[in-house]
Amino acid sequence: MGRCPACGEWNTMVEEPKAAKESSSGGAAARSRAFISSSDARPMKLQEISSTDESRFSIGIGELDRVLGGGMVEGSIVLIGGEPGIGKSTLSLQIPLCCGNLKTLYVSGEESPKQIKMRAERLGGRGEECMVLSETLLENILASAKEAKPQLLIIDSIQTIYSESIESSAGSVSQVRECASALLRFAKESNTPVILIGHITKDGTIAGPKILEHIVDVVLQFEGDTKGSYRILRSIKNRFGSTDELAVFEMTGSGLREVNNPSEILIPAHQDDLSGVAIGAMMDGTRPFLIEIQALVSSAAYGTPQRSATGFDGRRLNMLLAVLEKRAGFKLAAKDVFLNIAGGLKVSDPACDLAIVASILSSNFDLYISPKICFAAEVGLSGEIRPVSQVERRIAEAEKLGFEQIYISSFNKETSFSKKNGSHIKVTPVNSIAALCRSLFQ
Ligand code: TYD
Ligand code: MG
Repeated sequence: MGRCPACGEWNTMVEEPKAAKESSSGGAAARSRAFISSSDARPMKLQEISSTDESRFSIGIGELDRVLGGGMVEGSIVLIGGEPGIGKSTLSLQIPLCCGNLKTLYVSGEESPKQIKMRAERLGGRGEECMVLSETLLENILASAKEAKPQLLIIDSIQTIYSESIESSAGSVSQVRECASALLRFAKESNTPVILIGHITKDGTIAGPKILEHIVDVVLQFEGDTKGSYRILRSIKNRFGSTDELAVFEMTGSGLREVNNPSEILIPAHQDDLSGVAIGAMMDGTRPFLIEIQALVSSAAYGTPQRSATGFDGRRLNMLLAVLEKRAGFKLAAKDVFLNIAGGLKVSDPACDLAIVASILSSNFDLYISPKICFAAEVGLSGEIRPVSQVERRIAEAEKLGFEQIYISSFNKETSFSKKNGSHIKVTPVNSIAALCRSLFQ
């Protein structure tokens, strides 16, 4: 065409051949690598490569910075996954609101600018530098991002955006992969960090089948009961830090609030003399938690006693009950046993075994355990009390929270902690359930 139909100018039209549609399998993977393939790439010795510390910046939410390994790395791409309604959009919108002067482009394929504005008003904060775009076409998003040059790009969510070069519908495996790799190239080329939000499918994987996890630098998973108010943000993969980090948030009427000391919320205050309650010192990643365990043992009304556990593996509860029955002579077979982990959390750390056993015994004898006592040990099949890892950290956390006594396994190497100057907590090693009973209830 000689004359442009849009602006009316002559000879401004340039031919641009349409990009050949690549096959959805090999093509996208090859393109995701394209940002590092340049003509002057050659093998280099490690010593030749100059290392500069990756430059990080804080994104205003302390707990999130910590899970990322000390802030956001420039040019990195972070995937935040979680079930619908868990608070992914809320968390990502809180970043520009908390970090007043961070130039952010928040792209939403799910909400209109008005809805986002309403949410931002609810969350409070300033967010002077936050730009919002409601768009689902990848090419438009990239063009806007190149023009606006934000310091942080947020895509909510990766499943709602689509690229013209792929025929399948938004949210399909090939679309998600193609969009993620195009955003990856944008992140590496412009050195802009990108946060992708991903919905989790019913089977718990980030849709579709984990295809995004190997493309991105960091994968964070948002977990928790959407009915409860506590949320856990866990790092599953992190190219710039440890995956042992975890952050706890509370969903409030005005957004997510950081919970700096999770143990405090997990141990509710109540009267001292309740039987069936014991505190376990568990670890999640590298983070110690103290958590309340409640048990109720009552006579079984029907032939087969009921066993029910909330927040804990039912089979492990059965195992612990069998150990109590067989090795320690407690007659629990005719009793119903209910177990509950306070705070709606799920516990899988075996170090909670001793606290569970103690709470069951406490309920069975109807004798209370002082709320100043906690437990950290595993129980083996032969009734022995087994040692657990990182016992010093558990003891330190218990001491920090004002506990006066902690029961651990006598097989845990004599801890230097108990002899440390100025430590107030009494460390009591036990080697069997019978010894625990004598020490607790006599
Ligand atoms: P949302 O961030 O939309 O979840 P996602 O993007 O992961 O699907 O948040 C979902 C829930 O959070 C919603 O059901 C309401 C609740 N919520 C609050 O309790 N307080 C608030 O301030 C906000 C913004 C949301
Ligand atoms: Mg959302």
